[in-house]
Amino acid sequence: MEKEKIITLAIESSCDETAAAIVVNGRSLLSNIISSQIETHKLYGGVVPEIASRQHLININDVVTMALEEASMSFDDIDFISVTKGPGLVGALLIGIATAKAYSLAFNKPLLGVHHIQGHISANYISSPELKPPFISLVISGGHTNIVDVTDYDKYEVLGQTRDDAIGEAYDKVARVLGLGYPGGPLIDKIAKEGNPEAIHFKRVMLEKDSLDFSFSGIKTAVLNYINSEKQAGRDIQIPDVAASFQQAVLDVLVNKTISAVKDSKYDKLVLAGGVASNSKLRDMLEKEANNNNIQVFCPPPILCTDNAAMIGAAGYYNYMKGYRDDLSLDAHAHLPL
Ligand code: KG4
Ligand code: ZN
Repeated sequence: MEKEKIITLAIESSCDETAAAIVVNGRSLLSNIISSQIETHKLYGGVVPEIASRQHLININDVVTMALEEASMSFDDIDFISVTKGPGLVGALLIGIATAKAYSLAFNKPLLGVHHIQGHISANYISSPELKPPFISLVISGGHTNIVDVTDYDKYEVLGQTRDDAIGEAYDKVARVLGLGYPGGPLIDKIAKEGNPEAIHFKRVMLEKDSLDFSFSGIKTAVLNYINSEKQAGRDIQIPDVAASFQQAVLDVLVNKTISAVKDSKYDKLVLAGGVASNSKLRDMLEKEANNNNIQVFCPPPILCTDNAAMIGAAGYYNYMKGYRDDLSLDAHAHLPL
């Protein structure tokens, strides 16, 4: 007889969050512990890879212990261990993977490496228990900008992606240029509410006709050029206007391409994922367009949008049920196709 409840210990350490979670049947959470290093990296204006690895090493065992404690569980209750195998910072990933391997060996539990983007998408299985593939997913984070056709829990086709900077990276870089701090996304989100999105026209980079790819690297330079020319002319910079105009320019492109991807597919579901998915302006714009086109939009709460281990548990569960397994040769991959 099949076991009714499959309990997953999930570990995530691909960037600057050390995280562990206990997930039941890929859909419900018994715990979701996230130890953020943002305060440390803030001092440098961005994530310093070497510091990230060291912080993961310091925190990871405590984070796993807390996840088990909060779920009132011990390793005996765990069915398998799911861990992010990439993409991400290789030194950071290795800490999570080495920890998962050690627990797997010590407690004789199956081990499963999960793709970080599959994780971000799967966060929606936790927040929307009725959601099932197929659907189109927009994955937008500090490292990724992908439009993905999700045909099954383990089957993905990338329809479009960034050719240079990720959208979150553009937010972070522009925030730095504006002197707002790190991470820039939430700060721009907030300050843009006070600005006029039509105050400055930044170019909408659409690329070739029908292409679902993106290019966000030019906008940082455009913002920088605007600021320099205003300063030279002796005018004051209206930061909220610059933030709102930058945001409008990138979101116009993002929303336009995403909605056309869903319309071109045979689905009526759009699933958002990644840190930038919690952006309030994006949600407003997408919901309006989706309503006009009879598209249902799914989006996790902010805590499941940014990096967390719960999403790695959700993705791992479906891979586990389909028979995927890894052994102790599991390695970290800085770049890993979906
Ligand atoms: O998914 P995530 O935690 O990490 C990666 O896998 O990259 O995403 C972090 C990114 C950062 O670039 C951050 O600035 C951005 O998500 N972000 C936002 C918002 N909240 C986080 N960007 C725009 N608006 C937000 N509200
Ligand atoms: Zn991420």
